[in-house]
Parts: sequence; C-alpha cells; structure tokens
Amino acid sequence: MGTEIRDLIEKLYQTSLLEEKELLYLLQNYSKEAALLLAQRANEIRLKHYGDKVYLRGLIEFSNYCHRHCKYCGIRSENDKVSRYRLSEDEIINCIDMGYQLGYRTVVLQGGEDIYYTDDRIVALLERIKEKWPQIAITLSIGEKSYAAYKRFFEAGAERYLLRHETACETLYKSLHPHMSYDNRMRCLRDLKEIGYQVGTGFIVGLPGQNAQHLVEDLMFIKSFKPHMVGIGPFMPQKDTPLGNMPAGTADMTTYLISILRLLQGDLLLPATTSLGSIDPLGREKGLKAGANVVMPNLSPIEVRDKYALYDGKICTGDEAAQCRKCIEKRIEKSGYKVDMGRGDHKNFIASIK
Ligand code: SAM
Ligand code: FES
Repeated sequence: MGTEIRDLIEKLYQTSLLEEKELLYLLQNYSKEAALLLAQRANEIRLKHYGDKVYLRGLIEFSNYCHRHCKYCGIRSENDKVSRYRLSEDEIINCIDMGYQLGYRTVVLQGGEDIYYTDDRIVALLERIKEKWPQIAITLSIGEKSYAAYKRFFEAGAERYLLRHETACETLYKSLHPHMSYDNRMRCLRDLKEIGYQVGTGFIVGLPGQNAQHLVEDLMFIKSFKPHMVGIGPFMPQKDTPLGNMPAGTADMTTYLISILRLLQGDLLLPATTSLGSIDPLGREKGLKAGANVVMPNLSPIEVRDKYALYDGKICTGDEAAQCRKCIEKRIEKSGYKVDMGRGDHKNFIASIK
C-alpha cells in the first residue's frame, strides 16, 4: 500500500471527510492491506459509537408479489418462473410471535410492492402488532409510497423504514429500473426522514454498468442525506432476470465500502447483509469485522424461504428461525462481538414506545 492511500485512510479516520477525487482514488486502489487498515479504523469508530454489540432484527419476507421491474431482481413482475406467495396477516403475526419467543424485540417486514397489501391493510397489520407487542420496534421495507401513506404507517406504529436508493447515479438508475422514477425514489427518502422515521437507504455493489465513480456518487449521497442506516450488498445474478448472465459483485469491495461508510458517518447502523453472506460463506463475519453492527436473521416460515429468491445462491433458505438465531449468534461471537436482542435504535434516536 502506498503512502497516499495510508494518508487518505488516516484523513478519513480523523475527519470523516474526503473529497470526491480522494474517494475515487481510494476505491480505484483497492488492496488487501488497504482493506485491512480501513477495517481496523472502522472497527475503532464502531466501538466508539456502539461498543461491541451487534443488533439482531428478525426479517419477515411476507410477500414476493411485486409490480415493479428492477432488472436485477428475481421477484420482478416479469419473472413468471418464480412461485409467488403472500403471507396472511395471521401468518405474519405467528412469525412475530415465534420471533418474540426467540428474544427478538424488533422486526423488519419486507416485501415486493404487492398491490394486495394496500395502505389500509398495512395500517391494520401495524395496529394489530402494536396492540399485541407495544414494545416491539417495527421496520417496514415495502417500497415507494405516497407521503400520506408513509405518515399513516408511522402513526400506526412503524418507526423505521428501509428503502435503498440502489444507485445514486440517475442514468444508471434509469437503465436498471424501467418505468420507475429516480426522482420519486429520492422523494420517498426525503418524505420518510421528514415524517420522523429512522431511515435506512443503501446501494448494490457491482451492478452491471457500475464503476468507481458511481460508487463515489453513492457515498456522497449518503454523506449529504445522513440516513440512520445503510444496507449494502453485492449484486448477485438471478438466472430468470435480464441480468442473469452478468458477473456478481464481490465481498471484498462490499466490505471495503462498509469500512468507508463507517468512517464517513460513525453513528450509522450498518448491516452485514444476507447477500454478503451469500456471495462468501464468511461474508457476514467479514462485514462485522469491517465495521457493520446489525444482522437480520430470517423469521419467515420455512415453506416460503426459497421463494423470496431475489438472486441465486441465497443462504438460510432451509433453516428454521431458531436455527438461524443460533447460527448467527455463534458467528457473531466468533467474530469477537456480542449479540444484542434489544430494539437497536440509532444512537441519536429517542425511543418513543407507542
Ligand atoms: N420492494 C422493496 C423495495 O424496493 O425497497 C423491498 C424489497 S427489495 C426485493 C429489497 C432489496 O433487494 C432491494 O432494495 C435490492 O437492493 C436488493 N436486491 C434485489 N435483487 C438483488 C440482486 N439480484 N442482487 C443483490 N441485491 C438485490
Ligand atoms: Fe420489486 Fe424492484 S422488482 S421493487
């Protein structure tokens, strides 16, 4: 590793800031040594903000129906090879019940943009969850909605929302998301923040057509938007999509970016994602050591796990929730961290239990 890279990493560590051209240089000059130094520095900052805790959130993938067309995504509406499923309200409640018994105090409800789950149905579901478990923190991840819908969900008890911007480059975004609007995605993120959610955004690493300059744009966007959480994962091809023959992103570049994100904004909640664990059997451990502090084990019923096939080679499709919980705990402890089953709020967020 040259002295320029070492100096850039120190500058990023000391000031949480790099100019665009410096970030570009850092990304274009990846080396194992630079990644190691970045990870060490990122880990120091993570310990300063969140200690050695890793927050577990139970992920419920409640529907794989989606009316959108993201070219990389295995559950896009055009894919007629995927076997569609939708959990009922009762089935979702049962998943949460099981999660609660396993110790989870926060759940993430994720799905494709399923028109069956209207705003009214989502509100009814949220109210039912909050009535039964007022102390549980609910994260929604159900895509682009109106300001009014986001506001209703918030008032019904959702406190967090995950909506990746996917790529901050408008041209690249357009090429990958037919019939979708970059401006609307950005509008959604601004609305969510204004309403008062803890907001997670994020991007895919190694998207076909993506270069280092695009990744710099992602980092600059995050620096200015200041989300509470950022989820990133490598692009993984899914054979029945238009990008099914394209090469996957890498665990190395994803963990490198996790470290850069931790240094750019020390207080972020940063998940070691399922796609990182899917591309590399030790991907989640590597993510944690590079600065990540959240893991989202799966709570969905085992019968539907493999149907939420965003990409090929997804892990944890055959394990019961209890097994996932144990497996991930072992991995976290082996990496030198401690499992935290609490709500896992962002450190600046004043928890308001509704
Ligand atoms: N529909 C919601 C939305 O758009 O936010 C949530 C579900 S969406 C399937 C969840 C995330 O999966 C997306 O934000 C995207 O980043 C990721 N994803 C989809 N296909 C992927 C692929 N082939 N490789 C890596 N990540 C993928
Ligand atoms: Fe469903 Fe992209 S294919 S949101």
